[in-house]
Amino acid sequence: MTEEPQQIVARGYDAVAHSYAALERDAPWPRLAWLDDLLTRLPDAAHVLDLGCGNGLPAGERIARRHRLTGVDVSARQIELARANVPGGEFSTGDILRLRHPDGTFAAVTAFYTFDHLPRERLPEMFQLIHGWLAASGYLLCCVEIEDQPGTVANWLGAPMYFSSYDPDTTRALLTGAGFEIVRDAIEKQTEGGHEVGYLWLLARKCPE
Ligand SMILES: C[S@@+](CC[C@H](N)C(=O)[O-])C[C@H]1O[C@@H](n2cnc3c(N)ncnc32)[C@H](O)[C@@H]1O
Repeated sequence: MTEEPQQIVARGYDAVAHSYAALERDAPWPRLAWLDDLLTRLPDAAHVLDLGCGNGLPAGERIARRHRLTGVDVSARQIELARANVPGGEFSTGDILRLRHPDGTFAAVTAFYTFDHLPRERLPEMFQLIHGWLAASGYLLCCVEIEDQPGTVANWLGAPMYFSSYDPDTTRALLTGAGFEIVRDAIEKQTEGGHEVGYLWLLARKCPE
């Protein structure tokens, strides 16, 4: 039987938890600058959902300082680390495409380096789910790879990993098509273990219905 992408990703991140964390040690990525921009727009104690939260560092820890954090990740090992790193957060293991929350639950949803691991044809469904979970005028902050990549399994940090993404114009169009307005976006490069990789950063807001 062919393995589902999320099974490959779960096993991969269980295996590479430590080498992934080390990738950022020498040159911090732009994640916290974007996150701080989002957090200043939210009232204290606002409820934030972090999709693909990894080990909770650095984003979950920053969110949980002044806000209520719910983190989800498909890797059980990453969730184990997140619980230890961010005792103030609530964490669960699961596939973000299978998550169910009542409409209007969250003031903001974040997803840092997560959507590149979903089959790209499921991105519209992901954006629709997030749109439902957000309160009126709620925010989505995410970053997505900029390669036009239909879906591939590659060796990454010594483990098989699933990657898939659209070009930036298609990703932007899917987001606006799901009922978001883009507040701010930019393509930013970062260094990952000596390689330069570009991501499309998107801060978006749920349009009034
Ligand atoms: C590149 S890591 C990013 C971790 C963290 N967000 C960060 O900023 O460093 C991607 C994370 O997304 C998780 N992930 C990928 N696909 C997922 C899915 N379908 N459901 C839940 N988590 C997923 C992976 O397990 C991994 O921890």
